[in-house]
Amino acid sequence: MKGKFITFEGIDGAGKSSHVEWLTELLRSKGHTVLMTREPGGTQLGERLRDLLLHEPMHLETETLLMFAARREHLAQVIEPALARGDWVVCDRFTDATYAYQGGGRGLERAKLQQLESWVHGHLQPDLTLLFDLPLDVARERIALAERSLDRFEQERADFHERVRQAYLERAHAAPSRIHVINAQQSIDDIRNVLENTVVTFCS
Ligand code: TMP
Repeated sequence: MKGKFITFEGIDGAGKSSHVEWLTELLRSKGHTVLMTREPGGTQLGERLRDLLLHEPMHLETETLLMFAARREHLAQVIEPALARGDWVVCDRFTDATYAYQGGGRGLERAKLQQLESWVHGHLQPDLTLLFDLPLDVARERIALAERSLDRFEQERADFHERVRQAYLERAHAAPSRIHVINAQQSIDDIRNVLENTVVTFCS
C-alpha cells in the first residue's frame, strides 16, 4: 500500500504530541514503516531554525519565511523521500500551523501564505490532518502546569491563541475531507479510539 502523509495540529496545550507517538506505534504494529517527525524541525538545519523561531524575537515576515525554509528542507530531505519509498509520515504540525499562527494569530495576509505554500509544496498536501481542538482556558491551564520555560508562541496573550484556534477551525470547515477535528477534552482512551477509527476510514 502507498504511504500516507498524516499531520497533527492544534493550539498550544491541546495535548497532541503524546498522541503523535501513540498513532505512530499503532501504525507500526499494523506493519507500516512510519517516520515520525515534527515542524518546525525534522532535519538538522530545521531543528536549528526551530530554536531561533521559538526563542528569538523577529519580524513577522522573517518568522514566516523561516517556517517555510525549514519546511522546504524537511520536505526535500525527509518527507518526500519517505513517501516516495512508500513509507508513512506522521508529522507534528505542517502548513496549517502557518495559516493558523502567522496568518490567524499574527495577521499575515493569506495571499502571501498561499504564494509560499504553492512555491514550497504546491504538489503535496497531507492526506489527513488531525486537528486537536479544545477551549482556550483548558489549553492555558495545561500550559501553566508545564515545568519548563515557555517559548515565544506559548507566551503570547489569550487573544492571540483564540485567533489561532478560530483560524484552525475555519481551515477545517473549508477542507472537511482532509481535516478531522478531534475534541481534545475527551479521555485519552476516547481520543485513541477516534484516532484509530479516523485513520482507518481515511487511509484504507
Ligand atoms: P510545538 O510546540 O507543537 O512543537 O510547535 C512549536 C510552535 O511553533 C507552536 O507554538 C506553533 C509554532 N508554529 C508556527 O507558529 N508556525 C508553523 O508553521 C509551525 C509549524 C509551528
